[in-house]
Amino acid sequence: MDEQRYLTFALGKGRLAKQTLRTFEKIGITCEEMKDPDTRKLIFVNEDLKLRFFLAKGPDVPTYVEYGAADIGIVGEDTILEEARNIYEVLDLGFGKCRMCVCGPRESKELLEHQELIRVATKYPRIAKNYFYNQKHQTVEIIKLNGSIELAPIVGLSEVIVDIVETGSTLRENGLEVLEEVCPLSARMVVNQVSMKMEYERITQLITDLKSVLSISE
Ligand code: PRP
Repeated sequence: MDEQRYLTFALGKGRLAKQTLRTFEKIGITCEEMKDPDTRKLIFVNEDLKLRFFLAKGPDVPTYVEYGAADIGIVGEDTILEEARNIYEVLDLGFGKCRMCVCGPRESKELLEHQELIRVATKYPRIAKNYFYNQKHQTVEIIKLNGSIELAPIVGLSEVIVDIVETGSTLRENGLEVLEEVCPLSARMVVNQVSMKMEYERITQLITDLKSVLSISE
């Protein structure tokens, strides 16, 4: 009989990975060696369950899943929308809730209302472009940044930003506000298209187990 193959999970580093591991523990999936905060290992194995886990930068998770280097990924919906990879999105995990928003100083609200040609700084150029061009029909200049996006309107790089707002404290501490909401976001489970066919039973069982602990109904 064929040995069961390993199912590989790519987890986005940081807060989401911690919540994901806590949720997996509730359905009996554990990975003790991953909990060691000092480890420099990149990949972790649960031999009994034939599972492997690795931590990757959030935006790389859909890439690993599309190419089949991971069967399953757990990542924020913001990253899925921005990366636009050929993957199946199979489950809203319901945690990691936040909002994608247009933010800036209060004075910038008028620029949004009057469809001015403004500059928009963001880590999410595809989401920003889609929002301004296809939903608002406003021509803007999009400037890609890689972090600390809130700096941009403060130092005069842009009039507004498109970024994630969770608690709102980064905005408040920097004198900025939510000016418009683009969409709500949460953590999602994504699956490689071939893995979904080849490992259909194991993956659907995992989805069913996760739904039961996350109290998600059909
Ligand atoms: C994210 C986001 C905001 C902040 C929002 O940044 O880009 O800056 O969190 O959270 P809050 O509403 O709870 O303050 P992250 O911490 O991921 O770091 P980054 O600025 O380097 O992207």
